Amino acid sequence: MNKLLEVRNLTKSFAQPLGASHMLWQNVNFALGYGENMSICGESGSGKSTLLFALGRLEDVQSGKIFFEGKEVTDEKSSNIKGIRYIFQHYQLVNELDVYENIVLPCYMQRCPVDAKLLKLLLETLKLESLQHRMPAYLSGGERQRIAIARALITQPKLLLADEPTGSLDEDSGRQVMDLLFYVCKTLGTSFILVTHNISFAKETNHVFYLKQGTLLNEEG
Ligand SMILES: Nc1ncnc2c1ncn2[C@@H]1O[C@H](COP(=O)(O)OP(=O)(O)OP(=O)(O)O)[C@@H](O)[C@H]1O
Ligand SMILES: [Mg+2]
Repeated sequence: MNKLLEVRNLTKSFAQPLGASHMLWQNVNFALGYGENMSICGESGSGKSTLLFALGRLEDVQSGKIFFEGKEVTDEKSSNIKGIRYIFQHYQLVNELDVYENIVLPCYMQRCPVDAKLLKLLLETLKLESLQHRMPAYLSGGERQRIAIARALITQPKLLLADEPTGSLDEDSGRQVMDLLFYVCKTLGTSFILVTHNISFAKETNHVFYLKQGTLLNEEG
C-alpha cells in the first residue's frame, strides 16, 4: 500500500551573491504512513521551516521527489494539493474576521461546504464554542493557536504540517495545545509533521527526526 507521504533525495539550496549557492539540506529521505505522525527537531536556521514549506509546495527544491498519496507532487501547485494544510507559528488569523469566520475560511477558498458535524467536533474538542463570535485581537495566544488548528482541519486534510505550533506559548498553554492537537488528529485520523524545539513533545510522535548540518537523521538510526 502507498504511504501517505514519501520523500526521496530532496535537496534545497539557495543562490548566493556572486553566483555561489548555499546548500541548506540534501538527500532528505523519509516516508510517513496514513494516520502516523512525526517530528523534526534541529537548531534555529537548520532549515526545518524551509523543509515544511517544500513538502507542501510553498517552496521549490533543487532536486528529489515528493509523493503524496502515491502521486508525484514535486512540481504541483500548492493550491492543487488539497490534502495538505499548514499551522504556522504565528497563527496568521485574519484580524477582520471573527473566530467562526476564520475557522471556516478554507471552505470558502476551496468552494466546499462547511461540514457541520466536523465543525461541531472541532469547536468542542478545541474548546472554542464560547469564542465563536470573538475577534482575534481579543484572544490569548493559546486560543489563537487552537483556532489555527481548527481552521487547518476544517477541510479534513490527510496531512497537517505544524511549524512550531507551541513556539509562542507558555509551558502550560503549549502543553494544552499539544494535547488537543494529538487528540483531534487521532480522532480524525489526520497525520501530522511537527516541527518543534521541545524534545519531549517530539518524543510523543511516532518518528523523531533531527535536521543537522544539512542531513535529516532518524532517531532510530
Ligand atoms: N529565500 C531564501 N534565500 C536565502 N536564504 C534563505 C531563504 N529562506 C531561508 N533562508 C535561510 O535558510 C536558513 C534556514 O531557514 P529556516 O527558516 O528553514 O530555519 P529553521 O530551522 O526553521 O529555523 P528556526 O528554528 O529559527 O525557525 C536560514 O539561514 C535562512 O536565512
Ligand atoms: Mg522555522
